[in-house]
Amino acid sequence: MNTHSQSRTTSPIDTLLTAADAALRTVFVPARASHPCPTLPENGANPLDEADKALAGALMRVNHVGEVCAQALYTAQALAARMGPQPNEALARQLEAAGQEETDHLAWTKERLDELGARPSLLNPLWYAGAFGMGLLAGRLGPGVSLGFVVETERQVEAHLASHMERLPAQDHASRAIVAQMKDDEARHAREAQHAGATELPLPVKGLMRAAAKVMTTVAHRI
Ligand SMILES: [Fe+2]
Ligand SMILES: [Fe+2]
Repeated sequence: MNTHSQSRTTSPIDTLLTAADAALRTVFVPARASHPCPTLPENGANPLDEADKALAGALMRVNHVGEVCAQALYTAQALAARMGPQPNEALARQLEAAGQEETDHLAWTKERLDELGARPSLLNPLWYAGAFGMGLLAGRLGPGVSLGFVVETERQVEAHLASHMERLPAQDHASRAIVAQMKDDEARHAREAQHAGATELPLPVKGLMRAAAKVMTTVAHRI
């Protein structure tokens, strides 16, 4: 990540290697949060039973996959901004800055999965690759579309996290605190991308994005 601080003279090869490094880290190396996890200690007087733990584990696995995809999207869109016909370093940096907060989310959701005794999705390399491809495509369509894609993605994720606030076991305060903080952060990512000059995506594209997310959330709930 830090390699971009010297990126005024970054070559395409450096940029590609940085993207490959980001991919391998996301999928294989535990993320380190730069902000403490907004979690709350479990209530010893009212512990989660096995069914609650299983449900919370499945939902947090879905959220962890979402954050794996966020890493892929932001990395790919930054790559496309840098390597396109009109390199846009300012946009690339903005995308990377937003991606930084996603690294916190990635670390928090993984931490909570561990606490719940649940495992991350076995398909993470596949989710990452799929999201990376979508990010590259959005990035190639220019800054307005790329930012529009961020706005729509973040809004859909925010709505999805709101639904998890309904579905998570009521006494799972630890998972709820994480999801609530992520929901606020995603809403802000959408607003920031909007202010930066996002183009509104066509309705059918939004529908396709929703369908892709539905496949991911349904599969990741189990695998
Ligand atoms: Fe996130
Ligand atoms: Fe986000």
